Amino acid sequence: MITATETKLPRIKTALPGPKAKEVIAYDAKFMSPSLTRDYPLVAERASGAIVEDSDGNAFLDFAAGIAVCSTGHCHPQVVAAIQKQAAELIHIAGTDFYHRHMPEFAEKLVSTMPKSEKWKVFFGNSGTEAVEGAIKLARYHTKRDKLIAFYGCFHGRTLGSLSLTASKSTQRKHFGTLLGGVGHIPYPYAYRCALGHTKETCGGEIIELLEQQIFKRLFAPEEVAAIIVEPVQGEGGFIPAPLFFLQELQRICNKHGIMLIMDEVQAGMGRTGKWWASDHAGITPDILLTAKGIASGMPVAAFIAKESVMNWKIGSHGTTYGGNPVCLAAASATFDLIEGGLMANAEKVGNYIFSKISDWPNRFKIVGDVRGKGLMIGVEIVRDQRTKERAADLRDAVVDNAFHRGLLTLGSGENSIRVSPPLIIDEEQADCAIRIMEESIREAEKARS
Ligand SMILES: Cc1ncc(COP(=O)(O)O)c(C=O)c1O
Repeated sequence: MITATETKLPRIKTALPGPKAKEVIAYDAKFMSPSLTRDYPLVAERASGAIVEDSDGNAFLDFAAGIAVCSTGHCHPQVVAAIQKQAAELIHIAGTDFYHRHMPEFAEKLVSTMPKSEKWKVFFGNSGTEAVEGAIKLARYHTKRDKLIAFYGCFHGRTLGSLSLTASKSTQRKHFGTLLGGVGHIPYPYAYRCALGHTKETCGGEIIELLEQQIFKRLFAPEEVAAIIVEPVQGEGGFIPAPLFFLQELQRICNKHGIMLIMDEVQAGMGRTGKWWASDHAGITPDILLTAKGIASGMPVAAFIAKESVMNWKIGSHGTTYGGNPVCLAAASATFDLIEGGLMANAEKVGNYIFSKISDWPNRFKIVGDVRGKGLMIGVEIVRDQRTKERAADLRDAVVDNAFHRGLLTLGSGENSIRVSPPLIIDEEQADCAIRIMEESIREAEKARS
């Protein structure tokens, strides 16, 4: 059996799925909710670094990282040691009722990443959607307003409050009834598909105008708006970065009207783009910043960080049983140290390396429409025809599946894009391997359709 620690590159030795994987898939079908979306039949058994081993001993190079979660790679020894040590000392006490030092200690680390012009406070939860729910509540509580503005293509979670904001795929909302009232959606700047032909730097001015000249004048008076919530890089929507000026304009508008700017960094944050927060590239000071996913290398931790002047709610206004669990925070703290100690710089370095090799894909492959992103958050958009930009979900699925069969894990994103979001530990050799596999997979998809 190949163990994940023995290799840093993929090795496929059975047809996929292999016999043991097939058994697990059949077992899963008996008991698990059919709502889960499995793009391809990976059955994970163990993992180490950027390698995931399946139940049949096949080794895959992981460029999905459990949806951008395993930032330090799988089972990083420092993260494992921190979890093991903490598990033997204190597993749970309920930070909502009692004190333990791990909460302020890790909160202080998070606050150290935020602009120094403000004082900040932190609330811990367990998942991205919980951070979003908490932020909605805090924004409403603080402003005493109820309207919320989000963007088409955004994904903020699947619980009923966050789902009211999510506008990614209609299946995610269908049959779930009336959601939160007072939510308005506006377009997100999507340079590749900009009707006005603007660039990645300049796209979105018309959306700012729409907000100020139409939404605020015809739908929601700005003094009724509690928050604008935005992903600095749309994740689930297709790995689409917002132009920096666009985020700065949102901040200007929010400051002008006393609206809370909520920056959802659940997928883009924790060093993935080469800075702690993707919005740091724009020099933004949000009122509330949300983080989860990559924060604790796979342990369930989320946080919202708010200006001290904003997090002024009273005792009992908000709480949770598990948020700030000591074992999870031990993992988060070790993760933070690793990211600060070199992984964030590595994300920038290897990300630039990958871009230098793949940004010409639209010239080399007929079905690649766009390559975009920052650091190790890279989106590849697959189209049927570069001229018409017709979305090709089937070809995208074929590329992702071809890559899987060659030993590379990626994920779809949006209607027709591929998300490349490896752990922040990958090196150039692993990047080269992933690029080679993706190129072969794209070529195979191109060949199959012609
Ligand atoms: C930007 C963003 N916000 C919120 C969420 C919800 O996070 P979770 O799945 O942990 O609830 C996600 C998940 O993909 C996300 O990408």
